[in-house]
Amino acid sequence: MAKFLVKNAGPLHGEVTISGSKNSVLPIMAAALLSDDPCTILDVPALSDVEVMCDILESIGATIEKDYEAGKIVIDANHELRSETPAELGQRMRASILTMGPLLARDGRTRASLPGGCAIGARPIDLHLKGFEAMGAEIIFDEEAGTVTATTDGPLHGARIYLDYPSVGATENIMAAAVLAEGQTIMENVAQEPEIVDLANYLNKMGARVKGAGTDMIKIDGVKSLHGTEHNVIPDRIETGTFMVAAAITRGDVLVKNVVPDHVRPIIAKLIECGCQVEEAGDDLDELRVRGNIKELKGTDIKTLPYPGFPTDMQSQFMALLTTVHGSSTVIETVFENRYMHIGELNRMGAGIRTEDKSALIPGDVKLQGAQVVATDLRAGAALVLAGLAAEGETEIFEIRHIERGYAGLVEKLQGIGADIRRVD
Ligand code: UD1
Repeated sequence: MAKFLVKNAGPLHGEVTISGSKNSVLPIMAAALLSDDPCTILDVPALSDVEVMCDILESIGATIEKDYEAGKIVIDANHELRSETPAELGQRMRASILTMGPLLARDGRTRASLPGGCAIGARPIDLHLKGFEAMGAEIIFDEEAGTVTATTDGPLHGARIYLDYPSVGATENIMAAAVLAEGQTIMENVAQEPEIVDLANYLNKMGARVKGAGTDMIKIDGVKSLHGTEHNVIPDRIETGTFMVAAAITRGDVLVKNVVPDHVRPIIAKLIECGCQVEEAGDDLDELRVRGNIKELKGTDIKTLPYPGFPTDMQSQFMALLTTVHGSSTVIETVFENRYMHIGELNRMGAGIRTEDKSALIPGDVKLQGAQVVATDLRAGAALVLAGLAAEGETEIFEIRHIERGYAGLVEKLQGIGADIRRVD
């Protein structure tokens, strides 16, 4: 079983370049099913989740040319497609449900395995289905088979859809279905994440008419068909934030390149509150220099929220940092109900974190100690890598397949800025 061995090599220094966004590329790949022309996607990160999405699209019937080294994939869905993802593939990645909207819009039928209990919470898909139903789909659950089917006789029709919670996946799935619906769809209380805007931009390049992405209301005028396009995926804001925290937790000085500073405002704000210096740099202002060596870092409080609030996907990494600073901090997780699995592992390293319901109290002023720890999910694993960079002795991290789902070339990138990290098979 592969593992990471991490040692404290002192402050990190140098430059690191961020890859394309995992959470953008997955819905964009699924939306390629909406066109009969090939779609070219660029700045694709080399991640196992991208490979799983390729497998899913191929299992449905699309053909894909992959050139991971060039960060390019071309998806051709001009074939007869199956309406369902094999259960084994569906269960490997929750984002597999993002094929539902495109398949329903295109062929009037889609079936998915109900996403099982996932490591970071129950994660239902009721909001996705509510949207499909409002557009005229019939939803049938087969509890014995563990599947849900959405069907429609004719084309979907436009509808007014209010999301009870601004779910990222539901916003993407419903938007992808509505672009080919007859008439206008108005979606209210939608997610405003940059990945939603990236998907809307891509759909509009394919000929869709989506307005308002990035606000809490999206209006979509349905069109008859979409054509192929070429699209560059936005930089990954969570990878960006993770390297920013790597600079801070090692009290280093790192230039993080290929970033959109506007996408990481809460992370910049919280790092500054802790005492870091964060400067926008580069001719195109697409770089951030993060210095954790200007003054003693101190605690701060964090509450995760939908965008533009502090991202739940950065909560565990920031918590690792907060264990090492002067003074106590509080973290409140409001997006997922079970996203504190890294705490037990950080506590093995001496963090002394206590939880009460949705809150975690981090005492701070701790010198973390290397230990054997387990990555329970993607971002929890990233937090352990960061903790290992600041700990005394060696940290051994198991179940790194979770980390490799979402960080392209993590080991090489960290080594490039002076970290002592090795992947051992
Ligand atoms: C996406 C991201 C994930 C990130 C999350 C929140 C991808 C591939 N994944 O996940 O990295 O952590 O956004 O920023 O983009 N919910 C419902 N009913 C639904 C759908 C969601 O109750 O139908 C709840 C979830 O259980 C959760 C909350 O809404 O508590 C947020 O989930 P959602 O925004 O949908 O996250 P994902 O799209 O799954």
